[in-house]
Amino acid sequence: MTTIDTPIQQDPHIVTELPGPRARAVIEQDERYSSPSLTRVYPLVVARGEGAVIEDVDGNRFLDFNAGIAVNAAGHNHPKVNAAIHAQVDACLHYCSSDFFHPSHADLVERLATSVPAGMGDARVFLANSGTEAVEGALKLARHHTGRPNVIAFYGAFHGRSLGSLSLTSSKAKYRSGFGIVTPGSYHAPFAYAAELTGADYIEQVLFHHMTEPGDVAAIFVEPIQGEGGYIVPPAGWLQALRDLCDRHGILLVMDEVQSGIGRTGTMWACQHDDVTPDIITAGKGLASGMPLSAIIARDTIMQWAPGKHGSTFGGNPVACAAALATMDLVDDELAANAAARGEQLMAGLRALQERFPIIQEVRGRGLMIGFDLVDHDMAVAFEQACFERGVLSLTCGKRGVRLAPPLVITEAQCDRALEIIADACEAVTR
Ligand SMILES: Cc1ncc(COP(=O)(O)O)c(C=O)c1O
Repeated sequence: MTTIDTPIQQDPHIVTELPGPRARAVIEQDERYSSPSLTRVYPLVVARGEGAVIEDVDGNRFLDFNAGIAVNAAGHNHPKVNAAIHAQVDACLHYCSSDFFHPSHADLVERLATSVPAGMGDARVFLANSGTEAVEGALKLARHHTGRPNVIAFYGAFHGRSLGSLSLTSSKAKYRSGFGIVTPGSYHAPFAYAAELTGADYIEQVLFHHMTEPGDVAAIFVEPIQGEGGYIVPPAGWLQALRDLCDRHGILLVMDEVQSGIGRTGTMWACQHDDVTPDIITAGKGLASGMPLSAIIARDTIMQWAPGKHGSTFGGNPVACAAALATMDLVDDELAANAAARGEQLMAGLRALQERFPIIQEVRGRGLMIGFDLVDHDMAVAFEQACFERGVLSLTCGKRGVRLAPPLVITEAQCDRALEIIADACEAVTR
């Protein structure tokens, strides 16, 4: 294996069987002691990364179309993000933001509050550690502000796995099975395309008729592009109809941008494509390019809760805040634009491949949040494995979908190379 100081070549290259000998040793050790609830889909053992390339412990190189599941926005080892982290580590590693002040927290809450659609007016920000924690907090905030008990989300949604957010998650029944009663008062509607009646129409005609009066609903939680449910982009006007419904009934619209936010779709927030203004945004994943950090951003009139109502020991950690500030600068300066351009390139490339490989169906997405379906779930899993063996990291989603969510620094040449490998993998799974 090369040493940590050697630059990583930027092309994919497989030099051992997979998993290689070092990887096998790590996997054996890990699997002996780690929680069996973890879902490792293929035997990737990461040693280091640079840009959009991952090198495993045996020296195999992969083009990273996962980004640690839509996390490493600025790619691996970005010099500006690393410099910000190192400077903050040398100054102060941690000081609880719930009880004291530090400059990087102040800078980041201002930065986030002023990044959201202008229609949200003045905004306030609460910083936490993970997506699920941001969703939990948004759920508390919505109930606190409205004094109403119920919430609505969508089938196929993923909002997290702690008990409050789990009550909104409905992408897979196994996530709930065996855990008893999740937070009561959570209802679900079909997401776009999933049924004849979806979204606002279903909520108005079915849920408000049979399950909950609108006056009992605190919030509707929605991913502007459904992530784990299949990378599904709703049609124009679908999100606006939810906004209108919320306005008619005094319900808060919470946009879960944990996966779609921070430039991934070509704009800072995915809801900006549809020009829909939420009341609350949740962010996480790419926010700090890999440091654990999440945020609840809400209208000032909504985030009005007394001291002690919500807090977190680690939320808004100074190092994570420094990484987020560097990431947001990069997103504004170059990464959102690159996400938009590379997304178009990849989707055009995938659509061209559809003609050669009719197993590729329904190419969809925005920016670098791209999905497509294969014939069935087994084929999607075989494709994911075939890509891995050829040096591209991808993941399944939805019922038979594949998602591509590379770091936002991915280059044109890397996208071209990935498309060649995807074609090769298509040929393998067709055989
Ligand atoms: C839209 C969305 N919300 C919330 C979460 C939960 O985030 P975390 O795994 O950081 O708790 C995820 C994770 O995939 C997500 O995609």
